[in-house]
Amino acid sequence: MGLERAADGGQVIRIDVPVTVRAARVDEMRRLCELWGPKGIASRQRHLRRYFREQADGVQRGLVADFNGNPIGQLWVRLRHIDPAIEAGLPLVYVHTLVVMPEFRRLGVAEGLVRSASALATRRGCTHVSIGVDRPNEAARRLYAKWGFERYYESFDLRGDLVFMRREVFEAPAEMRLVTSQG
Ligand SMILES: CC(C)(COP(=O)(O)OP(=O)(O)OC[C@H]1O[C@@H](n2cnc3c(N)ncnc32)[C@H](O)[C@@H]1OP(=O)(O)O)[C@@H](O)C(=O)NCCC(=O)NCCS
Repeated sequence: MGLERAADGGQVIRIDVPVTVRAARVDEMRRLCELWGPKGIASRQRHLRRYFREQADGVQRGLVADFNGNPIGQLWVRLRHIDPAIEAGLPLVYVHTLVVMPEFRRLGVAEGLVRSASALATRRGCTHVSIGVDRPNEAARRLYAKWGFERYYESFDLRGDLVFMRREVFEAPAEMRLVTSQG
C-alpha cells in the first residue's frame, strides 16, 4: 500500500491486490446474482441454480474473478451437451453469462475471464471458444470482435435473440494459469 498526494491536493491510497480466477462456489450464488445489479435476482437465481447443478455433473463450469475474497465478475463455460448448431463441427467450449461488477469494469477483468475459459478449452483439447451475445448488446459484440471473435451463427428461440461468435483458443502466455480448485 502507498499513500500519494493527488493532483487536487487530496490523498490517493494505492493498493496492489491481484484479481484471481477460480471456480464458482454455490455458497456465493446470491452475490453472483447481484453482479448484474438489484433487478431480476429471482430469475437469475433460477438460472444459476441450474448452472451449479450442471457444474456438479461436469457439464459446465463457472469461473469467478475474485478480488480480496469477493466475486467481482463471472462467466460460465459449457463443456458438454452443446447445441450442435453452436458447435458447428468444431471441438469447442461455449462461454455465456459474462458479467463484471460496474466498479471493476474497463480494467481487463472480462478479458482475463475469457482467456481463462480459453485456457480451460485448451486443456480439454478444444480448438475454439464460442460466445453467445444478446443481439441488442452491441457494446459486447464490439468488444468480442476486438478480441478476435467472429460472428458465425444466429438463433432466435426460447433462449432469446442471440448472436454467436467464435475464435480459436488464445495462445496463453506461459505464465498464465487458471487458479481453480477443480483444475
Ligand atoms: C461487457 C463487460 C463484461 C466487459 O467487462 P470489462 O471487465 O469492463 O471488460 P474489459 O476491461 O476486459 O474490456 C474493456 C473493454 O470493454 C469495452 N467496454 C466496456 N465497457 C464499455 C462501455 N460502457 N461502453 C463501450 N465499451 C465498453 C471496451 O472495448 C473496453 O475496452 P477499452 O477500455 O480498451 O476501451 C462488462 O461491461 C459488463 O459486465 N457488462 C454488462 C453485462 C454484459 O453486457 N455482458 C456481456 C454479455 S454477452
